[in-house]
Amino acid sequence: MALEISDNTSVLVLTGAGVSAESGIQTFRASDGLWEKHAIEDVASPEGFFRDPALVWRFYSERRRSVSAAQSNAGHLALCALEEELGDRFLLATQNVDGLHERAGSKRVLALHGRLMQSRCSVCERPPFDDDALYLSALPMCARCEERGGSGLLRPHIVWFGEALDPNHLARVETFMNKAEDLLFLAVGTSGHVYPAAALVSVARALGGRSVLVNLDEAGNEGEFDEVFRGPSGVLLPSLLDL
Ligand code: OAD
Repeated sequence: MALEISDNTSVLVLTGAGVSAESGIQTFRASDGLWEKHAIEDVASPEGFFRDPALVWRFYSERRRSVSAAQSNAGHLALCALEEELGDRFLLATQNVDGLHERAGSKRVLALHGRLMQSRCSVCERPPFDDDALYLSALPMCARCEERGGSGLLRPHIVWFGEALDPNHLARVETFMNKAEDLLFLAVGTSGHVYPAAALVSVARALGGRSVLVNLDEAGNEGEFDEVFRGPSGVLLPSLLDL
């Protein structure tokens, strides 16, 4: 039951929290998921951050802690092996902020929703920088703002609700799809509720691409896929990708 991937096939992969579930990382919309215990508007919006930055930093610090202890799983590794075979005919757009694709060895990765292990200033234009620190009590301040006599609170480098995705990421996805001779869009472990990622399947189809979903439960946009494989990605991906 391997997917048909030939010498002219380009594969655009979209992953979501489900691909990291077998690494012990909590998903968002499960009954015991992150959004069951935390209000999105409190911990994943700019308004929530300015209202209570300590709460937001505690939330992301706990997530940093659990991601630091996690390992990539067979699903991440299968995508990595596919990339090794396809080279530039492979692109991975992930909604995950955990960095587990890169830790597995994936290189052509666009982190659409940001990176948990990076911070940036909420005031100045300083670029995001690596930061795996836990801020459980004191709030982190921007050293560059302080040097200039100002004061800026650091924030996690996460795309929150109400914020725009990096336009360069979307442009790269679009260029990749447009250039593909034979496009295969493969979505893995994502509930299909968050846009614009959830709309990529319809863009791929409009361009004549095939679309496949690998997911444990029914996804919100499932009807748009040509083929659906239900089950854990750590088991299904190695066999679907014939590795
Ligand atoms: P969700 O939590 O919404 O959905 C995860 C999906 O993964 C569900 O449909 C599960 O059925 C499926 N799943 C769980 N375990 C799996 C496994 N082992 N193998 C395959 N599938 C599995 O997570 P996302 O779709 O990633 O955004 O959510 C999208 C965005 O919403 C996130 O990036 C996050 C969230 O709010 C921000 O924080 C900005």
